[in-house]
Amino acid sequence: MQIISDPTQMQLIAREVKRGGKRLGFVPTMGALHAGHISLVKTARQQCDVVAASIFVNPLQFGPNEDFAKYPRTFERDCEMLTAEGVAHLFAPTKDTMYPPDAKTIVEVNELSEKLDGRSRPGHFKGVTTVVAKLFNIVQPDKAFFGQKDAAQVAIIRRMVRDLNMDVEVVVCPIVREADGLALSSRNTYLNPQQRKQALVLSRALNRIQFLYDEGDRNAASLIEHGKGIIAEEPGAKLDYLEIVDRDSLEPIETISKGALVAIAAWVGSTRLIDNLLL
Ligand code: PAJ
Repeated sequence: MQIISDPTQMQLIAREVKRGGKRLGFVPTMGALHAGHISLVKTARQQCDVVAASIFVNPLQFGPNEDFAKYPRTFERDCEMLTAEGVAHLFAPTKDTMYPPDAKTIVEVNELSEKLDGRSRPGHFKGVTTVVAKLFNIVQPDKAFFGQKDAAQVAIIRRMVRDLNMDVEVVVCPIVREADGLALSSRNTYLNPQQRKQALVLSRALNRIQFLYDEGDRNAASLIEHGKGIIAEEPGAKLDYLEIVDRDSLEPIETISKGALVAIAAWVGSTRLIDNLLL
């Protein structure tokens, strides 16, 4: 696997790949890779001829009181995992090459960026869309692979790609979970054994909602109440939001039809976890 830190060099490589008539797949990440990230790489390998990944802990998407400094960084292990999965090119830039001091441009998807995680993490999605737009311009992929784990991120990136006529197909891959239901996340490493158990309350609340939906309940307010009841039973967890929204507009839904997104965020200790399901 070739490791590239310079954006111009990455652009030249991408151009060469595509000049050779090959389909280029791209998996953007912040590293600290786990089986969720690897599922994106595997799907990219299936759908594309050449796969590029990126590792960049993007300062722009972290708030001033968030975990940028302590975000897990496991670069060597990540490289081994990506090499084993047949990734050809890893783009791993520095903060200064991505954001020179005189950079003035940001990319923002209005309104959607203020919903769900955007409400509790002001500026977060502006940081995500700016870095993903830059990464798309640098890697120039035919297809880019994202996880349903970050459901709001998916809706916002899809909207950005559509609004700005970006020539890239966004492919969304299912959430990978631990055997007991916890959605894989680089932030799970922050949890101590007790918190690791408490964190199961997120998937438990979602499962309860899925169960009631399967039983015929289509009333969003009632489903949300039941979900909140499950969270309230776990004193170790503090709910940030539990919402049922349209998967594309992220607007709340009252009466549920197929494809509604149930999204949850909760604090377990000082760790903020998210999870979701599509009904
Ligand atoms: P990161 O959190 O590293 O996630 C990279 C990709 O892996 C995202 O598309 C995310 O949805 C996916 N992913 C994470 N956990 C997953 C799981 N359990 N199952 C399936 N997919 C999972 O998301 C980001 O980085 C950043 O915001 C980024 C897009 C790289 C921009 O900085």
